[in-house]
Amino acid sequence: MSEPVRSILHASDSPAREVGAESDLGFLWDFWYPAVRSSEVTGRRLATATLLEVPLVLGRTSKGKAFAMRDSCPHRGIPLSHGRFDGTTVECSYHGWRFDACSGQCVEIPSLTSQDKLKVERIFAGHYPCEERDGYIWVYMMSGRPIASGAFQLDEGDRSQGGASPSPTKNLASSTPAAPKLSVFSEKYRLTHLACELPSHVDQGIIGLMDPAHGPFVHQSWYWRSRHSIHEKEKKFEPIPNGFRMSPHSPSSNSAPYRLLQRYTGEPVTTTIDFVLPNMRTEEIRSGKLWFSSRAAVTPVRRDLCRIDFVAAWNLLLPVWIFRIFAEKFLRQDQETMILQAEGLKHNPRLMLIDDADRPAKWYFGLKANLLESRRMGTTMKHPMDGPVTLHWRS
Ligand code: FES
Ligand SMILES: [Fe+2]
Repeated sequence: MSEPVRSILHASDSPAREVGAESDLGFLWDFWYPAVRSSEVTGRRLATATLLEVPLVLGRTSKGKAFAMRDSCPHRGIPLSHGRFDGTTVECSYHGWRFDACSGQCVEIPSLTSQDKLKVERIFAGHYPCEERDGYIWVYMMSGRPIASGAFQLDEGDRSQGGASPSPTKNLASSTPAAPKLSVFSEKYRLTHLACELPSHVDQGIIGLMDPAHGPFVHQSWYWRSRHSIHEKEKKFEPIPNGFRMSPHSPSSNSAPYRLLQRYTGEPVTTTIDFVLPNMRTEEIRSGKLWFSSRAAVTPVRRDLCRIDFVAAWNLLLPVWIFRIFAEKFLRQDQETMILQAEGLKHNPRLMLIDDADRPAKWYFGLKANLLESRRMGTTMKHPMDGPVTLHWRS
């Protein structure tokens, strides 16, 4: 078989391979994921991102609406991010096909003559629902190809003689849940974002995020905690939809910042920590009128790369720059640990999850498996927890 023929066959194989890959890589589809920071998309600039191994091109229309398309022209696959954006349509750099940025619908094929019967409006570039919240552009990663009308699919469409194929985004808009939003508790507050890439599968990133036992070893410091401050803890957990909650409690007494807060307000400090699928840990700390709220989302980029997007808001008298010094150090400590872990994981070792410190990790895997099972069977999802549970560990 000649090389060009082989590569054409290979290209036409790719949709099937991709659908197969979706179910195999341990990613959770049909959820919102943060793709880029809002600040990265200005004017007519096109930004790129990869989510769940899907290349995306993102931008904002002249009316201010964020959009996300698959970064691949449905004609010959060249990345659309190399094309031009006029505020409404993205023009491919290869043959100049133009696509409406919000619907992905093709609006012009410059090579067509008046003799051509091709229904341009039936061609769609892949595109995804997109929302802006908390300074991020979120993309709803729906399973299957959003739509990518290559020549084969177009022939199919022509045979059906129906009207223009409806845009899948329009169909989905009604069934798409609202994008996540960080909870805030007063009108005025400070807000900051941090991000950090981890060279691991999203599952490792997530169980690292909810792991209570690494604190005294990885995050040792005089102002936070030392390895000698380890003591036994008892935490109550309860099931919540798609996740679990560490029930409201007074935070660890071996952490100096919490002691300070309590001294400042004279009121008890309570913390509520939630984990919800696909990837989000939120924490709310309140003491009197003062509050701190944060969210860490671990997003799968590729099978061997994920990214923590951390956003925090507070009305404490804490300058952003001071918070960032500590938070950056914290994230860097986790990142360095995950880099070392990735070294070890190259050799595919057998791993363990122990009780009780790794029980949240077991719930995560249980939630994920049960969600996939319920989607496969079309049944209600069974929660891996029967009810509230008290866990004990030393940290
Ligand atoms: S590859 Fe995009 S127009 Fe031809
Ligand atoms: Fe950590």
